Amino acid sequence: ASFEEPDPFWKSKKVLITAGPTREAIDPVRYFSNHSSGKMGYAIAEAAAAKGAKVELVSGPTNLEPPPGVVIKQVITAEEMYDSVTASFSEADVTIKSAAVADYRPVETYNQKRKKNDEQWNVELESTKDILKTLGTQKTTDQILVGFAAESENVAYFAKDKLERKNLDLIVANDISADGAGFNHDTNVITIFNKHGQEQAFPMASKKQTAEHILEAIKSYTEEQH
Ligand code: CTP
Ligand code: CA
Repeated sequence: ASFEEPDPFWKSKKVLITAGPTREAIDPVRYFSNHSSGKMGYAIAEAAAAKGAKVELVSGPTNLEPPPGVVIKQVITAEEMYDSVTASFSEADVTIKSAAVADYRPVETYNQKRKKNDEQWNVELESTKDILKTLGTQKTTDQILVGFAAESENVAYFAKDKLERKNLDLIVANDISADGAGFNHDTNVITIFNKHGQEQAFPMASKKQTAEHILEAIKSYTEEQH
């Protein structure tokens, strides 16, 4: 165990973090999901708790142990994540949305296992709610809202577009096509953009180190506001 000194900035903060994928059921044995491991969000939760923050982690299905000292809420679907996050949001000083939320879910979920046949099967999908966008419309001036953008092309352009459209303070962009970045790696390569048009690019780092970079960026951004 590490015995990090609590940081006075983080010690006074309630931090809400989301992590992992969501799963959208097709039938009792099948679902749509994505490659998110949850490692980045769990690393942020662990680092924030070690600095003395009160941390709530809303997690989709992962293989990870809840970090010590963190209140964990386990969810499966995008809808459950939406309900859990919107219920806690007004209490949070800082909200960090690293979860890879499903953008679509099946219109219909079968109660019984769907049997195969020789025909083509077209599954109809509908949009899920955009949790982060909802939070962006609800946030007060002293709440800090941080999003993630996992992109495979035009990283800066798409990240800045999300920052603006979702009314975020900061966005953590990662190029999932870069070596050592993104899903299921223990390392990440990120650029952090803030609302004032500033950006900070980091070389490849462990997710533990990347969590420190993200928390540091949030702290300096917040302190510059006041
Ligand atoms: N997000 C969310 N709810 C959703 C979809 C995304 O809260 N239903 C959040 C993610 O947690 C992330 C941010 O929005 O912090 C960006 O997610 P991303 O998938 O990169 O962007 P989208 O807005 O979904 O757009 P696209 O997938 O088309 O790039
Ligand atoms: Ca998406």
